[in-house]
Amino acid sequence: MAFTVAIDGPAAAGKGTLSKALAAHFGFAHLDTGLLYRAVGARMLAGVEPVEAAQTLTADDLSAPNLRTPQVAEAASKVAVIGAVRAALVDFQRAFARRDGGAVLDGRDIGTVICPEAEAKLFVTASPEVRARRRWLELREGDPAADFETVLGDVKARDDRDMNRASAPLRPAEDAVRLDTSDLGIEAALAAAIKVVEKRYRSAR
Ligand code: CDP
Repeated sequence: MAFTVAIDGPAAAGKGTLSKALAAHFGFAHLDTGLLYRAVGARMLAGVEPVEAAQTLTADDLSAPNLRTPQVAEAASKVAVIGAVRAALVDFQRAFARRDGGAVLDGRDIGTVICPEAEAKLFVTASPEVRARRRWLELREGDPAADFETVLGDVKARDDRDMNRASAPLRPAEDAVRLDTSDLGIEAALAAAIKVVEKRYRSAR
């Protein structure tokens, strides 16, 4: 049986952690769709034309070591505005969403464009300051000199680009349940998300 959980929201809202934990809880497969855009961004930084990079993406590209850097995040949000880049990645994401046994996909346009028929949709948010703080704490582990104001500026610039692009802009699907994690720890956010998915799962079976 196909059962899709679509998790959308802005940068560093906690979608990744939440999606992974949700997938583990329900025994579903998980796809971090941001990784696809990051891999295309990384190939662009290496000199490959972005549309060609998206059309020829391989599994190896998805395990490149630099995909979590701020430079690659920035490049990802730049290639993500290109309609032909997004189009090249659609089929893979749709097939993953409808695979047998259930799937959780997290990204920006899962509930609106990739899988509008998803059985459960969550839109995960938090204030820009809270999101930047989470990302800053993460970055500081690898780079003690990471600067909070720079991270906050990057997060806001990426939000702006993601929400205002013509192709599949970031916005909540009409039937998405909003989850603001500004004041929620991971356990509380996960409990709230499980409740939403469980209800849909019960009625789909
Ligand atoms: O982890 P974080 O939320 O910072 O970013 P990500 O989910 O890895 O996504 C990186 C960038 O890819 C985003 O800023 C978007 O521009 C783009 N993206 C997208 O356009 N559509 C998706 N479904 C996923 C990511």
